[in-house]
Amino acid sequence: MSTKKLRNIKYHLLVCDGKSCRESGSDKVAKRIKETVKDIEKQNEVLMTRTSCTDQCSKGPIVIVYPEGVWYCEVTPKIAAQIVSKHVSDEEVLERKVLVLLTENQ
Ligand code: FES
Repeated sequence: MSTKKLRNIKYHLLVCDGKSCRESGSDKVAKRIKETVKDIEKQNEVLMTRTSCTDQCSKGPIVIVYPEGVWYCEVTPKIAAQIVSKHVSDEEVLERKVLVLLTENQ
């Protein structure tokens, strides 16, 4: 990705790609995020990165969304699509799947 494109990024989605999350379906989650992002108006504002273990293995697959610092847990492909269509597109946090909201105490 060019630096110019990187400067347009407003949402960074981190998909845990550690062993436990992979075993519970993180690859399908990451694929669904990529597919769904292509369908939204903000597609040029979203970057998805796979990470190593985020140390919440029993709650995986984990997806973290910045700038809000929302940690989503037990993310299925269906929830992954909703993270893109609701959280990113409509700026509406999916409360029922939030593990931690890091910016809550700021
Ligand atoms: S493998 Fe995802 S939290 Fe550990």
